[in-house]
Order: sequence, then structure tokens, then C-alpha cells
Amino acid sequence: MPTTQQQKLVHTFSALADIGQEVAHKNNFQEMIHTSLHLLLGSLAIMRGGVARYSRFGHELNFLAVRGLGDDFPLSASLEMSDEREFLNTGMSDIEISQAKMLAFFQRYQRILERKNIELIMPLIVRDELVGMVFLGEKASGEHFNSSDKAIIQAMARHIGVGIHQRNLMAELARRAEENRKLYEDMRMTYQDTVKAFATAIDCKDKYTEGHSVRVGKYSEIIAQELGWSDEEIEGVAVAGYLHDVGKLTVERNIINAPYRINAKESAELNKHPAVGFEILSPIHHPYTDVPLAAKYHHERLDGRGYPDGLKDNEIPYIAKIVNLADSFDAMTTDRPYKRRRPANEVIEDLRRNAGKQFAPELVTAFCNGMLKELTGESKNRQFRRLLGREYMEAEGIVPLLKQALNGMDATSSLTFVASH
Ligand SMILES: [Fe+2]
Ligand SMILES: [Fe+2]
Repeated sequence: MPTTQQQKLVHTFSALADIGQEVAHKNNFQEMIHTSLHLLLGSLAIMRGGVARYSRFGHELNFLAVRGLGDDFPLSASLEMSDEREFLNTGMSDIEISQAKMLAFFQRYQRILERKNIELIMPLIVRDELVGMVFLGEKASGEHFNSSDKAIIQAMARHIGVGIHQRNLMAELARRAEENRKLYEDMRMTYQDTVKAFATAIDCKDKYTEGHSVRVGKYSEIIAQELGWSDEEIEGVAVAGYLHDVGKLTVERNIINAPYRINAKESAELNKHPAVGFEILSPIHHPYTDVPLAAKYHHERLDGRGYPDGLKDNEIPYIAKIVNLADSFDAMTTDRPYKRRRPANEVIEDLRRNAGKQFAPELVTAFCNGMLKELTGESKNRQFRRLLGREYMEAEGIVPLLKQALNGMDATSSLTFVASH
């Protein structure tokens, strides 16, 4: 027949087992410590006590729960390295204050510990690490702690110690995750800054098309947004746009800046820039998308009449198709040394006519949609107006023209259509 004392203990331990499963949550952790102390004091009828967590960085004991110790009890206590070593040597066994007067820690806190009638201290050691300490006052009966009391105290203290240890591990994990996130964010910023610096360098070389790379990056971004791509993919496409002409860095300045239509030889020189761009970009790891392929194939056309490889529709990487559309749009809408930019209605007409020949129709659709949404106020964006000027974008008849173009657009390119049947 179990005694009342034993029944109480069975109850206590099952309660502890339940609580043990909840230590993961912050509030539950505090609660778990409180309840554990409560149960420990209650099951042995101890008058007062406290549980402290040890911080190795601050060399400090901080009380997580106290009971019956009064307002004047200090809620933190400092620990010397030598104290920590002594407690680790003792291991997880109880220390009776009356027997421990030679320890430096007790000498420092002797007065308060005696005044509060603390009789027993139990260092909490998990995996050779001091994680905290339990302080216990006298028993209500006035008796000394016997060996079975001490066995119970040790078992419950071990439970509390594991709880604190788990908590420490989780905090460390959270700290590292946060550190990683920051590191990743830093790298991402560095990458973007580098890309923008490159784009500016490319654009500097071409005095007539100032800002071309940056605009192609922005237009590419708009297309990817309209396609409903994820933030990271959109960022990747923008990078591809920013860097598509990086190969021009090796083309002679007088060819790029020729104030006339260049001859065949010069043209051959200029047309090397996609391949050179690919060479430059290939060794770099680009996080989200195939930026080198965009550089290599941004002058290919769906109908196979582009360069350098004369690829057709399905052979052209999708990202290159996006950059191609953005690139062509910018070429048509900015002044060149030998011709003025074309009016918006003509440009839209050109996109519509060349959908399926040069451009992928669904991309023209996405691009025109982006434009239309901005002009009708459906989106709050002002990107087109900012890049091309308000007057240019708000010219007569643009909105109906865009609607008309969108209505007549096939969902897939005619070549894709033919190829798949
Ligand atoms: Fe180019
Ligand atoms: Fe370009």
C-alpha cells in the first residue's frame, strides 16, 4: 500500500513529465520553472527556495523563480570562474550550506543565505556544463533533509536542469539563425550593389544610350512581375537586364558611339558582345537565375533570325526572351545617334506586329498589361512615366491601342503553336 507521501510523489513526477514536453515555448518555460519549484517545495514541505539560471557569458546566476524569500533577496548573483569550477567538481549533488563555508561563493553570500535559512544548494549540471542552481530553505517540520529527500531533490533538479539546458540550446539556435539571416541579407545587398555598379559602368561607355542597362533591368522586372513570378525570380530577371550588355565593355568605344549606322566589320565586332558577356558572367555564381544565358541570347529572335546562334523559339532560354523584349523596347523608345525615338503608338504597334516573330506573345501581353495598368490607374506604379516621361506615355490613343493589342494577342507564340502540333 503506497503511503500518502509516495502517492504525492507519483503525482509530482507525472506532472513534471507533462511540463517537460512544453519547455520549448518561452512562456511555458517560465511556467515550467515556476511549477517545478512549486512542486519541489510542496512535495517535501520545504518553506522557501529558488531556481536560478546561470549565464556563462555574464558569469551570473539569475533567479527565474523564487518562493518565500522576501523582497530583499537578490535576484542575481555573480559567480567567479573558480566558483564555477568548484561546482562542476562537486557535480550534481546537494551541498549543505553548513558544510560548505570554505567555498568562496558561500563566503561572499553567507549573510543573505543564512538570514534566509537556505540549507541546501544543488548545482544544475548538464553535459558538464553548469546551467543553474537550486536553493532550498528548511523543511516545515524542522527536520534535516534525509537521504530519500535528497534523492527526490536530485531527480527534480535534474529535470529542471534539462529544461534550462534545452532553453539555452534553443536560444543559441535562434541567435545563429538570425546571424545567418543577416549574413545572407548582407551578401544579397553586396551582390545587388555590384550589379548596379556594373550596369553604370556599362552605360558610361555608351554616351548616346545613357542609362540603357538600368532601364532594361527595370523593364525586365516589370515583365516578370506581370508574369506573377516570385520576388527572388523577379530580382534575378532584373539582374539579367542590368547585365545583359556587359560584353560591350570590351567593344571599342568608337564603334559603340558611332554617330552613324556602323559598317559590316564594325557590326561584326559589336555583335560579339553577347558571347563576351557570357564569358564574363559565367564564372560568377548568380543566386536566382541564369544571368549568363540572358547575356548570351538576348539578341536571338523567335523566328531564328537573331544572333549569335540563330536559335528558334523553344531553343531560346526564357530569361533571354524577357531581356530581348525589354532591350528592344528601350532601343525604340530612346534617341539614338542616327535616329530619334519613335512615338509610343508606333512602338506598341511594333510590339504587336512582332509578337510571334521576334517576341514571345505572352511576354508582349505581360508588358502591355503592365503599361495599361499604370495608365488606367489600376496599379499605383509610375514606372513607365518615370522612365519615358509623362507626356510620352500619356499621348492620345495609347490606352485604346494597348487594349486592342491585348485583345488580338495569342496566348502562345505562333511558332510554339506550330511546333507543338
Ligand atoms: Fe545587346
Ligand atoms: Fe542592350
